[in-house]
Amino acid sequence: MSKTIAFHLQKGGVGKTTISGTLACQSALDGFKTLVIDCDPQGNLSSWFLKNAPKYELSDVLQGRCYVNDAILPSADVDNLFILPTFGIGGTLKNYSETKLSEEPFVLQDLVNDVSAEFPHIILDLSPGLGRLERSALIASDEIITPMTPEVFSLDGLEIFIDELQKLRKNMRSDVRHTKIIINSYDERIRQHRDIYGVAESSGRFSVYRIPVDPLFRKAQEAGKAPQLFKARGRGLKPATVEAIRSLDNSIWLE
Ligand SMILES: Nc1ncnc2c1ncn2[C@@H]1O[C@H](COP(=O)(O)OP(=O)(O)O)[C@@H](O)[C@H]1O
Ligand SMILES: [Mg+2]
Repeated sequence: MSKTIAFHLQKGGVGKTTISGTLACQSALDGFKTLVIDCDPQGNLSSWFLKNAPKYELSDVLQGRCYVNDAILPSADVDNLFILPTFGIGGTLKNYSETKLSEEPFVLQDLVNDVSAEFPHIILDLSPGLGRLERSALIASDEIITPMTPEVFSLDGLEIFIDELQKLRKNMRSDVRHTKIIINSYDERIRQHRDIYGVAESSGRFSVYRIPVDPLFRKAQEAGKAPQLFKARGRGLKPATVEAIRSLDNSIWLE
């Protein structure tokens, strides 16, 4: 059985790419053949994990310009980790999503179905927003997990997302799950962070996970490495970060 997860909230900078990449690395390090599909026209995740410029990108596959296996590349850093890339510069995903995608909203779902026999774990990295491209990716997923940062407006952003997702489920006849949220860049010492965690927890609607603020994520991204394998000045991820990643990894692939 294969499972596809999208980490999504319409807001930018909440950690979608960081969490997608890090959990994909964890899954691959645990021995599961894992595919990340870069559905963000900015291609951040592809630049993070691929050393050389790819020949084909996701948009080529969606438009039938190449076979999916011609476009999927192994990560340079982690065994079992594969990327279906998007070119940040010179890419055609944005244009495709604004034109042809409207005629074929299930194209990403079909693609996921095609590769699911080969990859037991699939992660979709999405751009911010809730346009056609993000909607197509959300309905291609079995589960959506929402990362958010512990800021004043983040709970409002979550409410908006829940509302939009409800409509999407109805319109697209989708039964995608949405039962987990991640408070990212969490700092236990900051009262506002504790308060936002408290509110999210006490609503009882979600399992709430926390990922600590950890500068190693950015450093690993700059170096093109998996955070779990990277050290800066002899130091890796904080033990609390490693623990948070393990805890998420243990629960997200289960059902
Ligand atoms: N837990 C964290 N601790 C510290 N920095 C983080 C953390 N998560 C993400 N970041 C940094 O925040 C920035 C935005 O994260 P990113 O994953 O690109 O967000 P998004 O994909 O939602 O736009 C990046 O520079 C990333 O390195
Ligand atoms: Mg991103």
